[in-house]
Amino acid sequence: MKEMRVLLQNQGKENMSDAAVYIENGGYEGLKKALEMEGWDVIQTLKDAGLRGRGGAGFPSWLKLKFAYDTQSEDKYIVCNADEGEPGTNKDRVLLSCDPHSILEGMAIAGKAVGARKGYIYLRAEYPQIVPIITHAIETAKQAGALGENIFGSGFEFQISIRSGAGAYVCGEETALFESIEGRRGEPRFRPPYPGIQGLFGKPTVLNNVETLANMSHILRNGVEWYQNIGTPTSHGTKLFTVIGNVAQRGVYEFPMGINLKELIFDVCGGVADGKGLLAVQTGGASGAIINPFQIDIPLDIDHISASGGRLGCGTIFVIDDSNCVLDIVRNNIEFFSHESCGKCVPCREGTRRMYDLIQKICAGNGTVKDMLTIRDLAETVRSSALCGLGHSSVVPVISAMDNFPEVFESHLDGDYCEKCHMQRRVMKHG
Ligand SMILES: Cc1cc2nc3c(=O)[nH]c(=O)nc-3n(C[C@H](O)[C@H](O)[C@H](O)COP(=O)(O)O)c2cc1C
Ligand code: SF4
Repeated sequence: MKEMRVLLQNQGKENMSDAAVYIENGGYEGLKKALEMEGWDVIQTLKDAGLRGRGGAGFPSWLKLKFAYDTQSEDKYIVCNADEGEPGTNKDRVLLSCDPHSILEGMAIAGKAVGARKGYIYLRAEYPQIVPIITHAIETAKQAGALGENIFGSGFEFQISIRSGAGAYVCGEETALFESIEGRRGEPRFRPPYPGIQGLFGKPTVLNNVETLANMSHILRNGVEWYQNIGTPTSHGTKLFTVIGNVAQRGVYEFPMGINLKELIFDVCGGVADGKGLLAVQTGGASGAIINPFQIDIPLDIDHISASGGRLGCGTIFVIDDSNCVLDIVRNNIEFFSHESCGKCVPCREGTRRMYDLIQKICAGNGTVKDMLTIRDLAETVRSSALCGLGHSSVVPVISAMDNFPEVFESHLDGDYCEKCHMQRRVMKHG
């Protein structure tokens, strides 16, 4: 099965951080079109195209722009979320390095739409190698008249700066990200007010994922009809998938929304590595659902995955072979969330820790049925009362694993011994 390369069309070409090279390859045509349109018409174009966010929730992109458009303010901001904190995910890094101008262009288009003159790229701390690429891209875009004051002679000004995070997962959450840019500890804010009304520095702000912004450039360049013809009726366009874990060919792949998960793993990525059997798949990153091999014959688009209890999220597909134990995977996930919890609200701070302790107890063969019930109770409490998405989604792997692999949990109870969990513990302990 062949990839459909729209976002990755410039991967492998040389000097793509040079604005001149990007322009030779059709770059900034989308921005030029946007500059000739009214701001609202740009938003309408993205609405008609049906673009939805690629950062996790699949929120309609035009609606975010509308909130900022409708709010009167001298200063507005466009923020590119390049924090890419989801474990194992690297599709944004690939896009930032192989086609940085497509992201700058998308930011300028969003700026034109809402009347913002300033944009920030919030870059993951662990991506220092991306800084010179983006810096060069910004400089050459200014020289080419595609950024800065009076873009392409239109009178529209848009400037972009980079801000680096310090490595906290929670800073990918939009309001924690604003706090971080403003120089404070990265903790989520209470909402409302929502970012479109009062975001970065208290001003109307549109925050989008790297991939979402790159999509804006291609939509403006190629048109609504072109975009609508890619993907499924409710999820248009292509999607970048980071396929990781025990799979023969790991990597970042681009396919139309709706590609079948089973085909992606077996036909595109060569199936499970080393001839082992498939134990489970986790879709959407560490905060995604863990499903069993009978559940993987599904289209990967935003709504199908949600309907099946999972989430497309950032498009990460974690393939797990049968030398692992599902409980051990869940323990790893919840340990991650407990560690990354910013501690601002009690349900997440305490709940993730308690869930971890109980899952650890079950892994060790000392769990009881009552512990299972307590885990469910805790998960429901954290899901319904945590302040931000970190808490809400931390329970997804736990609940989904309990629902989809009940026999695995039961086989660990009341003194039963799991060799795989035990082996993992030994590996963790001894390096
Ligand atoms: C704990 C947490 C971490 C997140 N990390 C990221 C991230 O690394 N990158 C990202 O684009 N979105 C991340 N998000 C989602 C953002 O808050 C936001 O919804 C997204 O960037 C919006 O972009 P979109 O509309 O283009 O999808 C995170 C959310 C939470 C709750
Ligand atoms: S849910 Fe967790 S990460 Fe989010 S604010 Fe509460 S403690 Fe912090």
